[in-house]
Amino acid sequence: MCGIIGFIGNDALANILNGLELLEYRGYDSAGLAVRRNDEGESEIYKCQGRVSDLRKLVPSSNADFNCGIGHTRWATHGGVCDANAHPHRVGKVTLVHNGIIENYADLKEEYELEDYLVSETDTEVVAALLNKFYDGTNPKKAIKRTVKKLKGTYAFVIMFADRPNTIYAVRNVSPIVVATTEDNIILSSDPAALYKYTKEYFVLDEGTILTATKDGYTVENFDEEPVDVKMTVVDWEVSSLDKGGFPYYMAKEIFEQPSCIRRILSTYLTNDDINLGFDGKLDEALTRFNRICIVACGTALHAGLVGAHLFKKWAGMNVDVEMASEFIYSDTIVDENTLFIAVSQSGETIDTLEAMNKAKRAGALCVAVLNVRGSSISRVADYTLYTDAGPEIAVASTKAYTTQSLVFYLLALKTGMVRNRLSKEDLAKALSNLRLVPDAISAVLEQKDSIHRLAKEVITASDLFMIGRGLDYVVLMEGALKLKEISYIHSEAYASGELKHGPIALISENTPVIAAVTQEKLISKALSNVKEIKARGANVVLLAKNEFKNDFDSEYHVIGLPDLDDEYMTFPEIVALQIYSYYVSADKGLDVDKPRNLAKVVTVE
Ligand code: M6R
Repeated sequence: MCGIIGFIGNDALANILNGLELLEYRGYDSAGLAVRRNDEGESEIYKCQGRVSDLRKLVPSSNADFNCGIGHTRWATHGGVCDANAHPHRVGKVTLVHNGIIENYADLKEEYELEDYLVSETDTEVVAALLNKFYDGTNPKKAIKRTVKKLKGTYAFVIMFADRPNTIYAVRNVSPIVVATTEDNIILSSDPAALYKYTKEYFVLDEGTILTATKDGYTVENFDEEPVDVKMTVVDWEVSSLDKGGFPYYMAKEIFEQPSCIRRILSTYLTNDDINLGFDGKLDEALTRFNRICIVACGTALHAGLVGAHLFKKWAGMNVDVEMASEFIYSDTIVDENTLFIAVSQSGETIDTLEAMNKAKRAGALCVAVLNVRGSSISRVADYTLYTDAGPEIAVASTKAYTTQSLVFYLLALKTGMVRNRLSKEDLAKALSNLRLVPDAISAVLEQKDSIHRLAKEVITASDLFMIGRGLDYVVLMEGALKLKEISYIHSEAYASGELKHGPIALISENTPVIAAVTQEKLISKALSNVKEIKARGANVVLLAKNEFKNDFDSEYHVIGLPDLDDEYMTFPEIVALQIYSYYVSADKGLDVDKPRNLAKVVTVE
């Protein structure tokens, strides 16, 4: 939540604005920046409630001589959404932007009598005032150190001092800062999305260190003033991953990227007849040892974990706990040295998931992370990280993150089944040939986008929509319902079909829209009985079914036919159909598909 940026180099204003646009998915309540001209005077601050596009209207049009600056795009926590609460905040000589939450800001305000310096309601401005109080004009790093030692909470600060031209300082705790350099520029950012335009190489600033960036380079030192080495991360994503590639929204582009993302993972992890998770076989060996599995994540990543749980049960014969990270942190779930703990996260920065992994690590569990962003915070805690390498996911609604995370679970569960002698070579061969069919199966669904669009049009005025299914269908529908509600604002819930009669069926009346999935052949007759029960009560049903059965249902229902894969692999075409459906509902309602209200892509506050 919140995107922050620092830039030293020519054309700083334009570069900061462009960077903020790339970070806007982290929060879009307000945007602001502070830029200064070649060695002269104090920086100029521009900020406003709203989007970066609103900020663009405020900044001077002749702007080429700014060469240093900081910027911020906000997801509001402390203080409402208004111009005054937008960052940067300036008190005296200090101008800064912040991502995180300072829990003891009220105490600090009182203890150091800072009230008179404040014009906003933010926790951030209190820190600016405290830093200004501690800064005596001699040593900025000393003042920063003294300030952050007083703070409780999470923070990434990028800071400028009025009397230090061409210099930016940065310090962080939990909230991330990544740093990249080119021949002409230094760029600091909350996440790598704002860096790829310049370079594919960056480093993550370590906690407990202070970065000083000038036009001549940078230094990183710890709080004892000793230099600290940085570890570079390199990605191989194309810069074109950052544009919409001709699609009206990133979400559409990301939905359509899924066949190639899946192919990429398969080529990374599959050999001819085996799964190679890497790590010189150490992870394989570890998979034989534990007796419990605990999967923890949030939102879409949690739903991928639920798919994973099904597969571990089926192929490895293991019972699995799947918990929301926010609940796990404060729960009494048993996690110990016999536990395989798996955290799933696209960003690798979700604070609850990170804290959950820290807790599991302390308890001695083997910690595996399934992540998309290399070098992210969770990867730094995990014993083993399996990357999905899906490229930047910019739309707030996750699509390719889900299918790639799910795919990694297929590989992990199959490998676990193999090393624990639950699966034979023949079982594995069959599974791998099914997995190799997935990219084309997804493409086949993408080709049906127009017919799915026609069905989506029918619900744009609906206030509720229910999704029902059994087994893996139910798990996928949970993700489908999340997709629909978060971008269309239609209240949508998934129910296990067998549970309907225990309460939810009371919600069904004439024309209630329901999406029913019946892709699991061993459950099909039971699932269909449940569909008939709601149809008898007036529900308007869209059926998701294998093509093989489409003709049987066509006369009675609107059917979205899905490619015929073995049951376990139907999760992929099924979710893609629901992603397309949700996308069109949102787009046809005229909503901002990529930036749904109240949400942010990276959730770094509990
Ligand atoms: O970055 P993460 O995967 O840890 O994010 C977790 C959730 O916030 C995320 O999956 C969220 O639910 C989706 N963006 C919703 O589409």
